[in-house]
Amino acid sequence: MVDGPMTRSIEVLFSPAEFSALAGRDLSRTTCVVLDILRATTSMMTALANGAEAIIPVGEIPEAVAIKQQHPDVLLAGERNGLRICADQTGGVEFDFGNSPREFLPEKVRGKTIVMTTTNGTRALRVCAQAESVLIGSFLNLRATINWIRRELPANLILVCSGTIDQAALEDTLAAGALCERLWPHYASGQVADSAEIARRIYPLLQTDLPGAMKHSRNGQRLLNHPELRGDVHFCVQRETLGFVAGLQKDGTVRKLACETPASSSDTSGMDAPPSA
Ligand code: MLT
Repeated sequence: MVDGPMTRSIEVLFSPAEFSALAGRDLSRTTCVVLDILRATTSMMTALANGAEAIIPVGEIPEAVAIKQQHPDVLLAGERNGLRICADQTGGVEFDFGNSPREFLPEKVRGKTIVMTTTNGTRALRVCAQAESVLIGSFLNLRATINWIRRELPANLILVCSGTIDQAALEDTLAAGALCERLWPHYASGQVADSAEIARRIYPLLQTDLPGAMKHSRNGQRLLNHPELRGDVHFCVQRETLGFVAGLQKDGTVRKLACETPASSSDTSGMDAPPSA
């Protein structure tokens, strides 16, 4: 695509409060990058890196259970209040995984389709479903995502931060800032929303110590205070461990899109054991 001047726009949505307005917009010439660093989009990227065939993001628990009833081979993943969904929340069906990226090990996910429902992340993805393209954003594959966007140069780019409960999340804002910073040369002469300017200016302030920054994030604190989930925080702010891009397809599945470098498994070395519940 030719890099024409003044035609592009870049915007960041910081919180779920902005989801309903997004659903009403014409997104036919827009690429959305959905960011739920702690932890949904990081978990999706990890599951795909470790061999999962596809992920089906759904908003609500009953939707996930209905798909399982029709397709018993799928695995169920997801959380409410950060914890794995269990039988008493589903009418008897146990979920196979919570939302810890460290649970999606190659031997558990290889070749599998995973139906996932999380508090905000899967909902954010569904809201973007009408966009021209929807990418799964994470710190793990920043460079691959940036290279995809530089190559495709979408006319309109919206970085959708999933947030925590109903508020903005520091970790998603930082990831949006990292993308803004590196894509700035391609968008700065177009329509730049103040939200993109805000994210771009925050990232350099905290980027040298992302694990430390997570101590100031609401979801970061919640995970750090949970002995089994604490290891997720460091895992989720690793940068450039994966060399591929993933996106939401028109059939509602999330799959790998293009390989930047030979596909690698995410680095789980040095990490705490994955949570058991
Ligand atoms: C979400 O979708 O809101 C998050 O991924 C929640 C979490 O995993 O703690």
